[in-house]
Amino acid sequence: MDESIRIGGNAASSNEVVTLSRRVLRPLLRWTVRGRLSEWARVIRADAKQILSQVKAIRVAGKNAHRRLQKVSKTVEHQGETLRAFRREMTEFESTVTRNLRSMERHMSVVRKLGPYLMAIEEEQLLQGGRFRDLYLSEIWKDIEKLEVSIGCINDASQHTNHINLLYVVAVAKHLRAKQIFEFGTWLGKTTYHLAGATDETHVVTLDLPPDQAASGAHQGHFFKTSDRSSRITALELDARDFDASGYEGVMDFVFIDGDHSYEGVKSDTENALRMLKPGGTVIWDDCDGKNPDVLRYLRDFSRERAVFLIRNTCLAAYRDGVDALTFEPIHRDFPQDWKAGARERERSR
Ligand SMILES: C[S@@+](CC[C@H](N)C(=O)[O-])C[C@H]1O[C@@H](n2cnc3c(N)ncnc32)[C@H](O)[C@@H]1O
Repeated sequence: MDESIRIGGNAASSNEVVTLSRRVLRPLLRWTVRGRLSEWARVIRADAKQILSQVKAIRVAGKNAHRRLQKVSKTVEHQGETLRAFRREMTEFESTVTRNLRSMERHMSVVRKLGPYLMAIEEEQLLQGGRFRDLYLSEIWKDIEKLEVSIGCINDASQHTNHINLLYVVAVAKHLRAKQIFEFGTWLGKTTYHLAGATDETHVVTLDLPPDQAASGAHQGHFFKTSDRSSRITALELDARDFDASGYEGVMDFVFIDGDHSYEGVKSDTENALRMLKPGGTVIWDDCDGKNPDVLRYLRDFSRERAVFLIRNTCLAAYRDGVDALTFEPIHRDFPQDWKAGARERERSR
């Protein structure tokens, strides 16, 4: 067997075919393989070096991430602590607020109880210097309590604070058998309707702002507009300060003033009322209380000229032409002065 290998064409020296024996070839091959291996080893080493540097970078990044994580967890821990402290503060604050609310409620109930007294003191101060006579309705008009007045006079819709007022106003109109009545301030017209029932012939003139300017708007005069009394009611729609009373001079038996509650408004309405009043007629003002200080101030000034009645347990004041409220002899009531004596006696004997 021929052990030689033929190498064609590429020999450096010539184009001749060189025949190499296996003896020569084996070391040559070994040399080539070794060269290849060392080249691979170089590549692998370079790769390994790169991988190592990447591992190193990852380790550094890991360390940094760990540090950052520690920092963040510290911050979170700190914030948790702050949150817990805040929650504790909030709980304390809540209990303080609850305590304060309770004490405020206690104070409020005292203020509520004191309210009417404070209002009475304020009213007293506002009326100081005026000439007033404070009497029960039945002390001013004899036997007025025997009159029957419709409960419909209680005016929930107009939100009056004292419902008794309207029952009393209508009772006075009935008692006087007033045929001609003038009302300043129509509002929903409930009082107007009941005033028109004072007698079967009563005529009421009621005045209010034009509906587009009045608070009751389109509902102005609602209670009488479609009633059986509407033909005996005249509704004037204008500002009372522009009202010319000359057409009604000395005509009215009764004037009810319940319109503009400013000082100038009540003054103007009162002056017109006196012009329109018949001799012996009556004027009643509504809302004479601490909530309407201007009404009280005006009445104080007015009463210096003509003494005025204050009707007890109401917000009403009255003027009676020809009657001096200060010298007026109140109607004597045969009322048992010591009506609580029986109850006290029973209490004692227990
Ligand atoms: C308290 S309300 C009248 C309530 C009504 N008298 C009753 O008993 O149901 C007062 C009214 O006066 C009217 N008013 C206020 N200022 C006025 C003014 N300058 N001229 C005419 N009316 C006025 C308001 O529009 C309102 O309807």
